[in-house]
Amino acid sequence: MSRDGRDKLLELKGVSAHYGSIRALHDVDMVIYPGEMVCLLGGNASGKSTTLKTILGVVRVSEGELYFRGKRADNLSTAERIERGMAVVPENRRIFPKMTVRENLEMGAYLRDDRDAIREDLDYVFELFPRLAERLYQQGGTMSGGEQQMLAMGRALMSRPQLILMDEPSMGLAPLFVERIFEIIKQVNERGISVFVVEQNANVALSIADRGYVLQTGEVVLSGPAQELLHNEAMTRAYLGEM
Ligand SMILES: Nc1ncnc2c1ncn2[C@@H]1O[C@H](COP(=O)(O)OP(=O)(O)OP(=O)(O)O)[C@@H](O)[C@H]1O
Ligand SMILES: [Mg+2]
Repeated sequence: MSRDGRDKLLELKGVSAHYGSIRALHDVDMVIYPGEMVCLLGGNASGKSTTLKTILGVVRVSEGELYFRGKRADNLSTAERIERGMAVVPENRRIFPKMTVRENLEMGAYLRDDRDAIREDLDYVFELFPRLAERLYQQGGTMSGGEQQMLAMGRALMSRPQLILMDEPSMGLAPLFVERIFEIIKQVNERGISVFVVEQNANVALSIADRGYVLQTGEVVLSGPAQELLHNEAMTRAYLGEM
C-alpha cells in the first residue's frame, strides 16, 4: 500500500476531468508520497495544467477519486484543500500585481493566525529569496518575470504547505535563472515539503525529481523513477531529443 512504509500524501485514482463535453483527463492514476518531488511532463495541451487544477479543485473530478492526506478530497472546495495543506504556484506566476511584495506574501498566510510561525516562515522566504526582502514595498506587477516567480513561490510557502503544486516555474526565464529556481525548489523539497511540478523542461525537472509522470492527450503514458525516465528511449525520443 505504501512506498517505504509511508502513507500516501496525494492519490488520484482513475480520475477523469471534463471541460463541458470535452474530456481533458482520462483514467489518471498518480501518487505522491510525503517528502517526494514528482514532475509531470507532457506536450502542449496534454492535460498538465488541468491535472493541477483538478488536484486543487478548480476543475471538478468527473470520474474517479482524489485523496489528500488519507482522506477523500474531491468534494472539498479549493479553500478547504489549501487549508488542509496544498499550495499552488500558478501558471505565469499570477501574483497580485497591484499589491506590494509584502502584501502578496501576507496573502499566502491569510488562512493562518499563528503569528510567530508566520514570522519564521517570512524569514525563511527572505533567506531563500533575499531580493524579496529588498523590495518589500515594490508593487508585485512591476517586478521582473524572475522576481515574480520568486514572489509566487514565496507566497505559496507562506501557507506552510505540505504539498506545493507548481505549473511551469521555468516559463520564460533565462537558462541560468531556471537552474537557480530548480535549485531552490530542491532546497524547499529537502525541507520536507512535497513538490508536484509541471515542466516542459524535462531534462532539468528529471535531473532533480524523484519520480515523473508523462501525459499524452489526458492519459498517463509513462511513469517511473526520474533517472529511468531520463534514460527511457520513448521519453528521449518524445522530449529530450527535441530540446
Ligand atoms: N477552461 C477550459 N475550457 C475548455 N477547454 C479547456 C480549458 N482549459 C483547458 N482546456 C483544454 O484542455 C486540454 C488540456 O489543457 P491543459 O491546459 O491542461 O494542457 P497543458 O498540458 O497544461 O498544456 P500547455 O503545455 O500548453 O500548458 C487542452 O485541449 C485545452 O484546450
Ligand atoms: Mg499548462
